[in-house]
Amino acid sequence: MRNIDEFNITRAVLESLEGCDDPRLQEIMGALVRHLHDFAREVRLTEAELMRGIAFLTAAGQKCDDKRQELILLSDTLGLSMLAVALNNARPAGATEATVFGPFHVHDAPRMEQGDDIAAGAPGEPLDVELCVCALDGTPIPHAEVDVWQADEQGLYDVQIPTLGSRRRARAVMKADVEGRLRFRSIVPTAYPIPTDGPVGEMLVATGRHPWRPAHVHFMVKAAGYQTLITHVFRAGDPYLDSDVVFGVRNSLVASFDGRDAQGRRRLDLRLVLAPLEP
Ligand code: BEZ
Ligand code: FE
Repeated sequence: MRNIDEFNITRAVLESLEGCDDPRLQEIMGALVRHLHDFAREVRLTEAELMRGIAFLTAAGQKCDDKRQELILLSDTLGLSMLAVALNNARPAGATEATVFGPFHVHDAPRMEQGDDIAAGAPGEPLDVELCVCALDGTPIPHAEVDVWQADEQGLYDVQIPTLGSRRRARAVMKADVEGRLRFRSIVPTAYPIPTDGPVGEMLVATGRHPWRPAHVHFMVKAAGYQTLITHVFRAGDPYLDSDVVFGVRNSLVASFDGRDAQGRRRLDLRLVLAPLEP
């Protein structure tokens, strides 16, 4: 391992991994080294650029705390999170498609009941949601657990509003009934920019990208015997549907939020179709 040059260095690093006794780790590290080296050779990376990249990753790490995950944001904005979703969530035709999880889910969302208003004071135009959780053949799935979270009309999640402390709003965990139905009240979501006050925001500006996500509501649905579904429902007509900063939009997940009930309230009708667990 002497006389390293720009070509034989890759083999040298790969050989250094041969003692790894975890085959999957060796595969991942080997591929990472090969692609990183090819990347550096392709762009003829300068030492100053390498240090700039290291400073960027250092700043991204330093921006993280229990409420802010800048490195997930980086993965999201580089399309890596959505690529991992695509690689790992192939579903049978007819099943609702998955999309990115995002950083705003919490583990202490309030448990609510059928008919409750999950907005809990969050500002926004009232919305009635009628949801049906069913299997591929259309049969209802009883008692699925439905975790919902969304931004308010200012485009903010509760966890982004320091004055709320640990108060939760515009999110809840609920149970569908025996016929797979769940009715709840909420607010119409609005498009929002992902947090831009960190290195990822600088990267977006430097590369001429906007930070916006189209308006959406997040769902995580769990039922015994079925694959957990992590997805969003996007608002039809949103101007950012074709340029989501985290590449999460799928046609099948776009729905109209513009229906009205007899009282003139906005209403969203949804069917979420779960795929069975692999046999
Ligand atoms: C979200 O939709 O909550 C989200 C997803 C990825 C990055 C930032 C936010
Ligand atoms: Fe979101």
